[in-house]
Formats: sequence, C-alpha cells, structure tokens
Amino acid sequence: MESAHTLYIGLLGLGTVGRGVVMSLESNRMQIETRTGCSIKVLGALVRHIEKPRNLDVSAFNVTDDPQAILLDPRIDVVVEVMGGVEPARSYIRQALLSRKHVVTANKELLAQYGDELGELADRQGVRLLFEASVAGGIPIVRMVQQYLTANRITSIRGILNGTCNYILTKMEDDGLPFAEALQNAQRLGYAEADPKSDVEGYDSSYKLAILANMAFPVKSLVSAVQRQGITEISEQDIRAAESMGCVIKLIGEATYDGQQVILKVGPRLLPREDALAGVRDVFNAVTLTADVVGDLTFIGRGAGELPTASAVIEDLMEVLRTPSPYWNEPLRSFSASESSEKGTTRDSSVTAH
Ligand code: NAP
Ligand code: HSE
Repeated sequence: MESAHTLYIGLLGLGTVGRGVVMSLESNRMQIETRTGCSIKVLGALVRHIEKPRNLDVSAFNVTDDPQAILLDPRIDVVVEVMGGVEPARSYIRQALLSRKHVVTANKELLAQYGDELGELADRQGVRLLFEASVAGGIPIVRMVQQYLTANRITSIRGILNGTCNYILTKMEDDGLPFAEALQNAQRLGYAEADPKSDVEGYDSSYKLAILANMAFPVKSLVSAVQRQGITEISEQDIRAAESMGCVIKLIGEATYDGQQVILKVGPRLLPREDALAGVRDVFNAVTLTADVVGDLTFIGRGAGELPTASAVIEDLMEVLRTPSPYWNEPLRSFSASESSEKGTTRDSSVTAH
C-alpha cells in the first residue's frame, strides 16, 4: 500500500550503523507507516568501496562512491550521516544543510567539535539537525535532555558512555580475557570506532560527555577541557584487586555544574558493587542525570552495535516527520544567555578541568 507521504533519505555510510538503519526501516516498515501515515524510503548510500560485500539487500537503492549523487539529489529530504570522522563528514553535512536537507548524524566526534556551527547553520536554513545516535547508542538520552528536562536545572551527569570499554572490562572480569582479545571481539561485533584508540583512550566518552554537557548546562563545554584517561592501563591484576575489595572498575564520564563552572572528567573508577553503575555490564551504557526538581534519573540500554544505534537514527527520522521545524536545534548549543546572566557568569565562559 502506498502512503500519502514518503520521506526520502540518503545515507552517507553503509557500515555497521548504515546497515542497521536499512534493515530496521525494512523490518519495521508497517509499524512506521501505521504510526505516521508516512513511509521512509532509502534512495542511495555513499560508501568508500563499492565492491565490498555488505550482507544486505541493496537492490532497492543506489550504492555509490560519489557523494554528490546523494548531496545533489533533489528528491532526498534527509541526509543520514553514518560515515564517521570530522572530514569529509563536516563538509558533506554543511552542503546538505545548505541545500535545505534535514540531517541526522551519529557522529559524536564531529558534533563535540563543530556542533555549534552545524546547529546554527541548520537553524538558518530552517531544517532539523538531529543526533540521538551520537550519545549512548539506543538510549534516548539526547531527546530526554532536550525535551523533557528543560524546566529542571540539571546539576550533574554521570555515566558509562562507551560500549566498547564496558564490554572489554566485563569480559576481562567475567571470562579472564586479555585486553587485546576483548577489544578484537568488540571490533568484530561492530561496537568499536574505526580507530579503537578513540574508545579505549577515553576520547569517545569525552565527545559524548561534552555533547550532553552542552545540552544540559548553560555554560559552554569544550571537549578539550575534559580531564581524560582511558582503560589501556587496566590490567587483569587491577580487575582482580577490585574484585577482592567488593568493587568493579568502570570507565565513567562525569560532568558537574555548580552554577558557575562545569567540570568534566572521564576515567576508570573503582565502584562498590552497590553503585547503580556497577551492575551495568557488557555493551550496555547508563546515564544518571541529577536535576533540582526531579532528583536522580538513570537510563540504561545498549550503547553500541548495529540495531541499538539504528534505533536512535530511525527515531530521529520519526522526529523529522513529527516536527520538521528547526525550533529544537537550539539546545545543541549551550543554552547560555538568560541562565548565565542570572548566575553572574559570562555567556562564553568555558569549562575548567580539575
Ligand atoms: P563503519 O562500520 O566503519 O562504517 C562507515 C561507513 O562509511 C562505511 O560504509 C564506509 O564505506 C563509509 N565511509 C567512511 N568514510 C568514507 C568516505 N570518506 N567516503 C565514502 N564513504 C565513507 O562505521 P560505523 O560503526 O557504522 O559508525 C559510523 C558512525 O556512527 C561513526 O560516526 C560512529 O562513531 C557512529 N556510531 C557508531 C556506533 C556503533 O555501534 N558502531 C554507535 C553509535 C555511533 P565502506 O563500507 O566502503 O568502507
Ligand atoms: N564505539 C562506540 C562505543 C560506539 O563503543 O560506545 C557507540 O557510540
């Protein structure tokens, strides 16, 4: 049955996440059409290697290595950027926004560094820039902060923000796997970044923490201000020593706002087994938000992998269908002005690392 309206999308990238998006749009086609009265159709996908086997039926759309085949196609309403890296992703997204195409992206590295620029461009062009998949995989934490906690003042964010690291630490603890073997498994499962240093050295968690902090707090957070340490130094002896103390080791991202300054930290922490984050295992992520009216809220879900990440992307596509206006791009940037002056800090004051 043909829907009254079709949203046409072009993918930049057809790897782990892109493949998950194509598969889930197909598996949940009826659900999407019933809920929205609209259908979503993939017209094309940009890849680097056209001949690479994809284990996916690509007969219904154009697989190309020419970015302009996606970016200049006037039929495409939404560009879904799931290729990763800063360039050429940033230029392609800019071109898409300048052509008044909505953009959905999973690219935390890009957003943590150029989110302001891209958000402002999307606003000027009157289109949406959505990025639910950029933080904590399938957990709808971005929309939670942007839409459901705007009357609350958020004072802290604490969580496990990297699925690869949590998977590695869990396998080292449960199965006694060496670090390198656990990392190889995470790569095989599609959890790790193209360069897994980003995961294990804490950069990926830092990007996600900065994105969350900029949505949650009225002071600009720079990713360069995150006090960062990864898990590469964690040995099996450390894991066993933690165990003997009734603790586990987790890579934790923490951001606090005291009304003046934001302090951002990512690093391995020794958590007692009673800590809510200690029981979050395998590829799961968890985020606890503390806000003045609601108190603590904790969200747990799969933080990486094909389908959990695709879930966040396709929910962003539903959001484009629901609200094609750019109004909600605003909270991508620190929501500075009014709150900052009330607190006596300046709009552009940046974050201090301690
Ligand atoms: P991936 O498996 O490495 O896939 C990347 C895709 O982009 C591939 O199809 C690749 O083409 C294509 N590509 C990369 N650079 C290109 C270029 N310069 N020109 C044309 N095509 C290019 O990566 P992924 O795991 O899907 O991750 C994609 C993005 O989602 C990244 O920003 C990542 O941080 C983010 N993300 C990933 C996950 C996850 O669990 N994997 C979760 C959340 C967010 P070929 O296939 O031909 O090589
Ligand atoms: N490499 C990332 C992780 C993907 O392991 O968490 C999800 O952002």
